[in-house]
Amino acid sequence: MRVVIQDNYDKMCKWAANYIAAKINAHKEDRPFVLGLPTGSSPIGVYQELIKKNKAGEVSFQNVVTFNMDEYLGLPREHDQSYWYFMHDNFFDHIEIPAENINILNGMTDDPEAECARYEKKIASYGGIDLFMGGIGVDGHLAFNEPYTSLSSRTGVRDLTTDTRIVNSRFFGNDPEKVPAQALSVGIGTVTDSKEVLVLISGHNKARAMAAVVEGGVSQRWTCSALQMHNGAIIACDEEACGELMVDTYKYFLDIERKERL
Ligand code: GLP
Repeated sequence: MRVVIQDNYDKMCKWAANYIAAKINAHKEDRPFVLGLPTGSSPIGVYQELIKKNKAGEVSFQNVVTFNMDEYLGLPREHDQSYWYFMHDNFFDHIEIPAENINILNGMTDDPEAECARYEKKIASYGGIDLFMGGIGVDGHLAFNEPYTSLSSRTGVRDLTTDTRIVNSRFFGNDPEKVPAQALSVGIGTVTDSKEVLVLISGHNKARAMAAVVEGGVSQRWTCSALQMHNGAIIACDEEACGELMVDTYKYFLDIERKERL
């Protein structure tokens, strides 16, 4: 696992956007580049950088197909807290990408199981995901794979923990009861099947999860720790997120990244 430590949130976002754009630009196959995407506050700066690059002609999304990680169950697209709304508002409406290339789980489906099976099949039809970007929750969840979700899970229905509903209540008038209790989410296995996984970790409130994911064992307690078994996993983080790392760990990653490739 690579851990790329940047001074602050803005630099972390610039690094991640440069990395994604370089991967898209290096993709020379006829089939589209398949990009997995998250919501949340962590990726907003990355989306802003990618929008700038798209407008400047530095990266094109014409041959990019996207799959979002998750969606609340029971929220219509038009709800301003649906992930469909978030993605269009923060990214898709500002870049040139064919609408048919955008894939987001349908939170209003009558048949969640069938919707999740359809999603997995569609990912497979493109030959899998080239690069999955993600963020993590304070409890180390990746997408909506809360603690104790199987590390080989596939796309399915997830119950949100009380903790996550409390954390996400900031977007629902600070009322955890208003946060949907369930979501549709790609599984940990779905994410780790991707060729590369790039996870953003920013801020003091993620420092405990960061230490568990990087220094702890692979454990369903911190589902993002599954990335330790992935050969193409990168954590891009800021200094604040490193607050709970051992000094040796911190120095090690700074040291090896100093001589690094892109
Ligand atoms: C939600 C999403 C996750 C996201 C997490 C952290 O629970 N389902 O995909 O990573 O929030 O969000 P933030 O980046 O706002 O801290």
